[in-house]
Amino acid sequence: MNRNIRWRQGLAAAACVLAFATAHAEGTVKLGLIGEFSGPFADYGGQIYAGMKAYMKVHGDTVAGKKIEIIQKDTTGPAPDVAKRLAQELVTRDNVDILVGFGLTPNAMAVAPVATETKKPMIIMNAATSIITTKSPYIARVSMTLPQNAQPMAQWAWKNGIKRVYILVSDYGPGLDAEAAFAKMFKSLGGTVVDSVHVPLKNPEVAPYIQRIKDAKPDAVFMFLPPGEQTIAFMKAYKERGLADAGIKVIATGDLTDESLLDAMGDPALGIVTSFHYSTAHDSPENKAFLKAYVEANGTKMRPNFMAVGGYDGMAAIYAALQKTKGSTDGDAFMAALKGLKIDSPRGMIMIDPETRDVVQTIYIRKVERVGGKLENVEFDKFPDQKDPGKQP
Ligand code: PHB
Repeated sequence: MNRNIRWRQGLAAAACVLAFATAHAEGTVKLGLIGEFSGPFADYGGQIYAGMKAYMKVHGDTVAGKKIEIIQKDTTGPAPDVAKRLAQELVTRDNVDILVGFGLTPNAMAVAPVATETKKPMIIMNAATSIITTKSPYIARVSMTLPQNAQPMAQWAWKNGIKRVYILVSDYGPGLDAEAAFAKMFKSLGGTVVDSVHVPLKNPEVAPYIQRIKDAKPDAVFMFLPPGEQTIAFMKAYKERGLADAGIKVIATGDLTDESLLDAMGDPALGIVTSFHYSTAHDSPENKAFLKAYVEANGTKMRPNFMAVGGYDGMAAIYAALQKTKGSTDGDAFMAALKGLKIDSPRGMIMIDPETRDVVQTIYIRKVERVGGKLENVEFDKFPDQKDPGKQP
């Protein structure tokens, strides 16, 4: 073989490899999953990812001719600087097409400017401070907002004879949002907020606050703490300091009675009324399919919760949008496809508000009961079509 032919053959082979590589890249949609996978909030990332895997178990890993690939990154907890750096690396080094995940508000807030600068869609699967979706036109949320849940809780409480409330919330976005929305609605109905206290995000010592609440003798305490050590400690102190015996009820958003922690809380959680967008006890074929897929994809070590549904529905939104764009992840086309999208979620029908890119959904009122030997949030009332009131004037 003369040199010329060999050179041409080499060139043809190289072109072939290049063509294959391009075709491969074109045939993939890369999701950069940013979540809390270690530290005290490790369950957040774990549940979100488990929900995503459950969706892919049912619907496969290919949509609109594209293979879905997930690159997982750990923020290690509430760490905005880490989250931002990870997002930058995912976009520039790993060439991800869509940023997904986000259990905690500070991590989502830190990544918003990266989505804007790079025009990459960013799907919020949990973080629930109202303002997040206003921080970039490339953000959409499938989970919930705290005001969306706290406002119906205030309405239910007032209707059910609760007149004086003490508020205890975590001292960051979702807690402050929960307090503002609850207090605004409760006061407008005639209720009194006796006092309120803000607990540091990084300080799980809640017992001393509980004593103050007992001394103030309200009808109820309305609370939001991020699920985990703090909510378990809250329930323990509520029981040990005798608030229930003193006739002080707990009312909360469903973050308190997160199913993945209910077993750890045990019987003191029985009877607690909360407002929330998702309960594992929700009676629908879609929820049954989700619960089955969750176990098939992840085993039974964890009990699914609302964050897992956030991951599941986030994938549903991505699949539906990709079908509409015929596989394109162009930021503007993809966001246009998400606006107004309806998803038959395990929680019921949800919609991405075309104006705010935030989720519109039914909020349920539930009570913790023992069902078939397990503690469950049993839904008994509902507030349909709830938009995020945090964005209403
Ligand atoms: C948040 O940080 O936005 C957050 C964390 C846990 C929740 C809800 C919201 O349960």
